[in-house]
Amino acid sequence: MTGLLGASLPRQDGPAKVTGTARYAADHFGPDMLYGVLVPAPVPAGRLHAIDADAARDVPGVTHVLTHAQIPKLGAPPVPPASSVRVPMQDDEIQYEGEPIAVVLAETLEAAEHAATLVQAEIEPAPSTPHPRGDRAGAEAPRESGYLSAPADAERGEVEQAAANAPVHHEATYVQPSRHHNPMEPSATFAQWEDGTLTMVDATQWAYGVRMVMCALFEIAPERVRVRSPHTGGGFGCKGLVWPHQIIAAAAARITGRPVRIALSRAQMYSTVAYQPQMVQTVSLAASRDGRLAAIDHESINVTSASDDFVEYATLASQTTYAAAAIRVRQRVQRANVNLGTAMRAPGEGCGLWALGSAINELASQLQIDPIELRVANHADVHPFTGQPWSSKKLYECYEQGARAFGWRRRPSQPERDGQWLVGQGMADCAMGTFRFPSSAHVRLRADGRAVIQSGTQDIGTGIVTILTQIVCDALRLEPGLVSCEIGDTDLPEAGPTFGSSSTMGVGAAVMAAAQDALAKLRERSGEDLSQAPGAGALSAAMSSAGIEELIGVGSFAPHDSPYAMGTFGAIFVEIGVDPELGIVRLRRAVGRYSAGRIMNPRTARAQILGGIVWGWGKATMEASHQDERRGRWLSKNLAGVALPVNADIPSDIDIAFIDEIDEHASPIGGKGIGELGATGVDAAVADAIFHATGRRIRELPITPDKLVQLVDPS
Ligand code: MOS
Repeated sequence: MTGLLGASLPRQDGPAKVTGTARYAADHFGPDMLYGVLVPAPVPAGRLHAIDADAARDVPGVTHVLTHAQIPKLGAPPVPPASSVRVPMQDDEIQYEGEPIAVVLAETLEAAEHAATLVQAEIEPAPSTPHPRGDRAGAEAPRESGYLSAPADAERGEVEQAAANAPVHHEATYVQPSRHHNPMEPSATFAQWEDGTLTMVDATQWAYGVRMVMCALFEIAPERVRVRSPHTGGGFGCKGLVWPHQIIAAAAARITGRPVRIALSRAQMYSTVAYQPQMVQTVSLAASRDGRLAAIDHESINVTSASDDFVEYATLASQTTYAAAAIRVRQRVQRANVNLGTAMRAPGEGCGLWALGSAINELASQLQIDPIELRVANHADVHPFTGQPWSSKKLYECYEQGARAFGWRRRPSQPERDGQWLVGQGMADCAMGTFRFPSSAHVRLRADGRAVIQSGTQDIGTGIVTILTQIVCDALRLEPGLVSCEIGDTDLPEAGPTFGSSSTMGVGAAVMAAAQDALAKLRERSGEDLSQAPGAGALSAAMSSAGIEELIGVGSFAPHDSPYAMGTFGAIFVEIGVDPELGIVRLRRAVGRYSAGRIMNPRTARAQILGGIVWGWGKATMEASHQDERRGRWLSKNLAGVALPVNADIPSDIDIAFIDEIDEHASPIGGKGIGELGATGVDAAVADAIFHATGRRIRELPITPDKLVQLVDPS
């Protein structure tokens, strides 16, 4: 079927998911399988002297209680894809509350869970560094590590001088708290060794990354590790790398000679995998009186663990968004005895735009310039830091079309009242870097005109199976019912990670190349003219005239250095209401316009962006994970203590559209990524709308009622 690219094909994996036939990692059983339950360290720092596991071993069904004494010395894994240089359960040191100190294995989950509560650990506590409190205390330059993917400090032009010469300045510090990913599916993994070969079924965003880590830890060849990930129930970044439970499951399966499954509880998701660490960002802007930016100076400090310096590159926003003559950025970390943070949906620019977008909006109000006009005056026609041209960018159209749809230019200078609500409106930029990972795929043509897509990518709920099906249907003119898709297995052609909004572009391009390769091979072997997309009838006729049962098209996406800078862009407009007595903030409506390359499927694309805007609303007004400083642990380790947007928080009036665009520099399919773009900018737009409604600037997220109830004059 031609024309299927860009059509709203329904989710191909939808029926399997809503009927419960889709199998996730924790649904996987093996004969003779043991259930593993991790025993978390109760203190944030200390030394483990002894473990008394007698009571745990007495529980019927318990087969093993393993500690660091039983786990052999493992090899050093690459970081990333391993999350940490610190391999779990290798010594007696405790560096964070929740660090696994033992694993209980049993014939039933109930026995393992009960026995894990009976394990007694004798620990000598050590002084610990608590999670910082939203200030600069202890900030230092990050150490050299796999996480330092770009220089921590960078400068273009002369920031000091440009700032000294500029007549207008704005400087402020913006704080966002640590927050957890909270995917629907808690992390889970199944590990089995047979004849020296490890098979895992894992909830992961990067099956090949898991394989890489296991090869290094167990010092075995890639052919000896197979990782399957048939479905991953959301990740948002917390399943992007390899965390302790995956390593412990593989080690425990090797020691016991039996398959082991570890499924984390919701509580363990808080301290055994990751979160987005708190960031304290200071932005200094210097500008001319008509709003042209002379200098941007941006420092971001994020919390990290004792073992690793994870750097969240929030300052990327200041390197990519506005055409300032001089730009300086600094990344710093604050080490603490907490579990390690990681990327979370809309890292980089998504984090930095909270600070930079807010600062721009504050500068606009200081100069009494419309926030869109200020942005237009500072539009980055080329990449501001490298000077490279953009592969494509239609941000002007986003401003124009968004403003028109929202009615921005009718925004009243004074806030309006609607019953008890003070109504305010705000806008901000959206932006996300474009990450391109090598990927490969096969398209197998069958004699009956069916096609099978094969790639070792994974679905984390975003709709990749639907997009890949559309690409093959379009290339071969097949009905969707004739195309099936096999993914989530390192026995399939290698594909990159499903993070950084990268899969449609990378895997999609590989699949399109594989379909074209299959067609070219068939044309050559059958002698038929298949120059037009042929359809099932012509395909099977050509197959049978050439006497072919099955033909394998091979394709890959191998991004090379490009002369172009790449990114995705957008503009978000929100209208909010503030109850001046109670401080409650409600989202009333939103408009988003996006420049993100070719949109493969408007239905799944809209779902991604809508989810992103909801995610942004949660970040702006609800979500925070607090630490109990005395105990060095997350105060609430379940969803009862973390506020998240629910349907009642989200109005139906959310207007999302994409600017018509094809970016052939980014990928041969013309697309870029949209999994994260929608989540960016919402926080800054909301903060500005609250300012519009109340006259108060809130620079610390989330903007909860306690921050407004004292501020708003109820008169
Ligand atoms: Mo994401 S933080 O790219 O899973």
